[in-house]
Amino acid sequence: MPLVSLSGSRWTLVFGTLLVCALIFELDAQEQRGRSRTTLKQSKTKPAKATSKGPRAAATKPKTKAALAQAQAVLTQVLNRGKFKKVGETISVQTGDTLELRCRGKPVQWAIPPYLEEDDDGRLRIVQHERYGALTLVNTTGADTGEYTCYPMYCEDTDCRKEYNKAVKVFVFFPDPQELFVPSSDYYEVIQLRTNWPTVLPCQVTSPEAEVTLHREFPPVEVAVDRTEISFDVKKGFTIHRPRPYHAGALYCVASLGALRQSSTKYMLIYVNYPMSPPAPVILASSSSVTVGENLRVSCTVMGEHNVAVDFTWEYPGQQIGRPPYTQENVSPASGGAAMQHSQSVLLVDEVRDVDQGTYTCTAHNLQGAKSVSTTIKVIPKAKPKKP
Ligand SMILES: *[C@@H]1O[C@H](CO)[C@@H](O)[C@H](O)[C@H]1NC(C)=O
Repeated sequence: MPLVSLSGSRWTLVFGTLLVCALIFELDAQEQRGRSRTTLKQSKTKPAKATSKGPRAAATKPKTKAALAQAQAVLTQVLNRGKFKKVGETISVQTGDTLELRCRGKPVQWAIPPYLEEDDDGRLRIVQHERYGALTLVNTTGADTGEYTCYPMYCEDTDCRKEYNKAVKVFVFFPDPQELFVPSSDYYEVIQLRTNWPTVLPCQVTSPEAEVTLHREFPPVEVAVDRTEISFDVKKGFTIHRPRPYHAGALYCVASLGALRQSSTKYMLIYVNYPMSPPAPVILASSSSVTVGENLRVSCTVMGEHNVAVDFTWEYPGQQIGRPPYTQENVSPASGGAAMQHSQSVLLVDEVRDVDQGTYTCTAHNLQGAKSVSTTIKVIPKAKPKKP
């Protein structure tokens, strides 16, 4: 998208033609859910006022009014001498300079990089004006690099909610001549590699110009970035799209810009066999009715992926009188498929008594969730010995 620089009253006139442009900023809902690095900053919200058309117009056409407010949700950067610049996907602000963003709407809410949210040292100011929200960040550093998002609010009286799909965001780089990577407080970071779940190594650079490569510590090699298995995004870092056991180990990023070459924090990648789904246990009793004094055996079996741990818990009538759980667990490869395995827990009740009658429930757990299955056992009194 081209950047448009405008000033003075012309800005207001040409603004309308840019509305279509503004709607291109669609917030990917999926990404929004997955983005744990973004936190929300509440701005002072004002209740919406009735329009000048009178109460009737306001009551019958709240949607139109809201739609107008949303359509105007556009982010602009305030430059020196009152110049405005509509922002694109990314902007760069020299470290030390002031970042000033304006977002049309009344009111609006802002989301800022979590580091800023946590260490509020008085450099950030968020003000809601009559027609726009303003975010000002002074004495900026490379650590301020990140995503800044404006959410227009839809209000009915004093009740306001964020319009997630109308959000406009800009990624702001603060190129730091000394720090190519956004500083991290940790010397290393442990990251779980889960089967088939994309993993991000968040080595965030402060300058979009920096050239970033990925390296393995042992053996010391550069990791090939083929854009299919592993890709790089200057706003995110490296993504391993389908983690495999061989991706595990200690990795780090190297950024180069001009004469500067720096290493990132270390990432300790640990591979976890992550199940595709919660377990599906099957429960089976040696018999659905047992005579007092006989032994009972209830098994709970899960057919699952190889090397995925399954834990079992039991609930059974004897628990109430403090019968200790007496279980045997075993894991064995499933016949006919090396990628599958049987996990089994067997609950054994020796010399059944009346109190053992009732419902036996087995719950199987894995990293994706848990599922319970039950069976009912009837206890039959011992037949009276026949009279001689
Ligand atoms: C910004 O930096 C200047 C100069 O170092 C200092 O005087 C001022 O207090 C700082 N402002 C804030 C809000 O930290």
